[in-house]
Amino acid sequence: MTALELHGLGHAYFGRTVLADISLSVDAGEIVALVGPSGCGKSTLVQIAAGLIDAREGRITRSYRRHAMVFQEPRLLPWATARQNIDYVLKLAGVRTKERRQRTVRAAERAHFELDDLEKYPGELSGGMRQRVAIARALAVEPDFIYFDEPFTALDVALKRRMQDLVIAASQQARFGALFITHDLLEALRIAHRIVVMHPVGLGMLADRSLAGSPGSRPDADTFATMQQLLHHDPAFAHIHDVDERRRA
Ligand SMILES: Nc1ncnc2c1ncn2[C@@H]1O[C@H](COP(=O)(O)OP(=O)(O)OP(=O)(O)O)[C@@H](O)[C@H]1O
Ligand SMILES: [Mg+2]
Repeated sequence: MTALELHGLGHAYFGRTVLADISLSVDAGEIVALVGPSGCGKSTLVQIAAGLIDAREGRITRSYRRHAMVFQEPRLLPWATARQNIDYVLKLAGVRTKERRQRTVRAAERAHFELDDLEKYPGELSGGMRQRVAIARALAVEPDFIYFDEPFTALDVALKRRMQDLVIAASQQARFGALFITHDLLEALRIAHRIVVMHPVGLGMLADRSLAGSPGSRPDADTFATMQQLLHHDPAFAHIHDVDERRRA
């Protein structure tokens, strides 16, 4: 069953086309990694898919029940504790007080966030702990689909890996599908069932590759070898690590 389907999407900012002819579908329970060079339109695409901005062209079909989002910055309310940050979204979703308490604890545990730290404010937490709160907040609403926009880019390599493992385990447990944007091909190869490569200036998709094995059970050596193979021998992947500063101005 399809959870998300984008068909012929196009978008422009102030008359400048940033996306054209974008089609993509994600099945229920499937994790699709979307990679592409900086500025190619990945965040714009995610915001359109999640309904935060309207596309100029194209059709979107969302067949999931409820989605959540995790961004590169944790986006926590600074005046609220970790617990209150999670509680807040549950309150908005109309969840009753007692269940909110249980769900907050369960989500914190799933995100490997120490329960003792729930009473702390974002300013008292490290970057990794703040990102765990953001993940707990996303999991707490019990989504069947999650949009991730480069959630671990700001974290160091070892922490990044632990956070990837956490997302893999949580997705297997809670069975959510995801569109996972990343700059990092190794991350995409660890976390996803499929990798989709976007054109360097958002003009369609260059590749759509299903990955062998399942996330969490691929040996590191295989993942690394696949990365080398794609980067050096698959033309669609040749430019994914480019940074074009002109487009960032
Ligand atoms: N709100 C906006 N107004 C005008 N132009 C924008 C806006 N947001 C993004 N853009 C432009 O649209 C293009 C695509 O941006 P987007 O942020 O979607 O790319 P991205 O692939 O997410 O990049 P990165 O990997 O650096 O996050 C870029 O040229 C960017 O400058
Ligand atoms: Mg982006």
